[in-house]
Parts: sequence; structure tokens; C-alpha cells
Amino acid sequence: MTLAFIGIGNVGFALANNLEQKGYSIIIANDNPDSQSVQKALVQNFNFGVLPLQEAIDTAEVIFLATPFHVNEVLLKGLDFRGKPLVDCTNPVGAGISHGLESKISGSEKIQEWAPTANVVKAYTIYGFENFSNPEYLNAKEQPSMLFAGNTTEAKQKVASIIEASGFYAKDVGALDQALHLEHMTLLWVKMVRRDGHHPNFMWAYLEK
Ligand SMILES: NC(=O)c1ccc[n+]([C@@H]2O[C@H](COP(=O)([O-])OP(=O)(O)OC[C@H]3O[C@@H](n4cnc5c(N)ncnc54)[C@H](OP(=O)(O)O)[C@@H]3O)[C@@H](O)[C@H]2O)c1
Repeated sequence: MTLAFIGIGNVGFALANNLEQKGYSIIIANDNPDSQSVQKALVQNFNFGVLPLQEAIDTAEVIFLATPFHVNEVLLKGLDFRGKPLVDCTNPVGAGISHGLESKISGSEKIQEWAPTANVVKAYTIYGFENFSNPEYLNAKEQPSMLFAGNTTEAKQKVASIIEASGFYAKDVGALDQALHLEHMTLLWVKMVRRDGHHPNFMWAYLEK
């Protein structure tokens, strides 16, 4: 399966590199192939391809968005996703590690508004990027969980299979409006780790009986 990555920085590269090693074909989607993060990613993984944004979207089956949240409205304008899954890895973060949209609406619902031809699925935001290249804990009984949310079953099934391949237990938490709560989980993780000094490789597991 071919995956396109819009944004290949900390998050995009860690995920793309993990998934390339699991057999996925990776295309970096960028109209400027000379950008610093694109060049750095290509040096670190020779197997990545690069295509202009719309061409990469046309080629891939699933597209990942891993850019600073504030660039997304302009970036997504006019792109045609033709109903493909768009995995929203971005977080609207405001002053003092607060919710950047004042918790009135999730960032993912705004992404869906700005990319109406995509089927947005929120995933890969509740932990730092340090956990995306290799989330496996060989001595643990439970896998770390990746919670995801979206409005379309078909898109969520595709994303769930990618989440499993990347080494997480994939847990569907419901429709896209649940993304607001995932974004708050992100803020919890960020405050614990980036502000309060907890270990960056801590994650949560979903237990049920
Ligand atoms: N860092 C984390 O631990 C973490 C974890 C989960 C989620 N997130 C979220 O994931 C997103 C990315 O975070 P990151 O840490 O990976 O950021 P990053 O390392 O700064 O990477 C950002 C990427 O977005 C690209 N980009 C920036 N502006 C762009 C534009 N206008 N058009 C196209 N591409 C653009 C950059 O490309 P250039 O080199 O061309 O600028 C770069 O490839 C953020 O929304 C963040 O909140 C972060």
C-alpha cells in the first residue's frame, strides 16, 4: 500500500520510517522537494519518494497530515482527496499548552472542514513522536494503544490496519467529534512529559474484561 506524508518532520519521519520497514511504500508530498525536512528524510531513508502535493495524494491510498496545525487551512485549500482517508496527526496547541481552539471544536473537525473531499481520521497524536518509530515493548503483556476517531467506517478500517502494522493496538473511539477528547489526552501527555519530566516512552494500554 502506498502512503503519502504531508509533513515529514519529527512525527512524519518517525511514522513513515516505521511503516516503510513494515512494507509500505512512502511518498513525501511536498511542492518544495528542496525543503530542509524533505532533504533530511531522504538522507535517512533512500526508499522514500517525493511528489508534488496533489500528485502524491492521487498516487497514495492513505494520506498522513503531520504539519504545524496553523498552516493547515491554507495548505489544504484546493486539494482533492477523492474520498481517501486523511490521517490527522496534528494538534492545535495554544499558549501554556492549552487547547488551541479553546476546546470549542477539535482540530480534526476543522481539518475536515478545510479538506471536505477527504475522510479525516484522527490518529497518532496522543503520544510524542519518540513512540512512533518503534512502539514495541518486548517484555510487556499488553501492547500500547493507539486511539483513533473518524466518521467513516471504511476509512477507519484502513487506518486501523496501518496502526496495527506500526505496532500499536488500534482502538476505535468513535466519530470525529471524539477527536476533541484525544486532543486533550495529547495535552495531558505533553504536560506530563515535556513540562513535568515523565519519561517520553510512556504510553497507555486499553484493558477490558
Ligand atoms: N512532536 C511531537 O511529539 C508530536 C506528537 C504528536 C503530534 N504532533 C503534531 O504533529 C504535527 C507535526 O509536529 P512535528 O513535531 O513533526 O513538527 P516538525 O518536526 O516541525 O515538522 C513539521 C513538518 O511540516 C512541514 N511544513 C511546515 N509548514 C508547512 C507548510 N506550510 N506546507 C507544507 N509543509 C509544511 C515541515 O516541512 P519544512 O521542512 O518544509 O518546513 C515539516 O516537514 C504538529 O501539528 C504537532 O502538534 C507532534
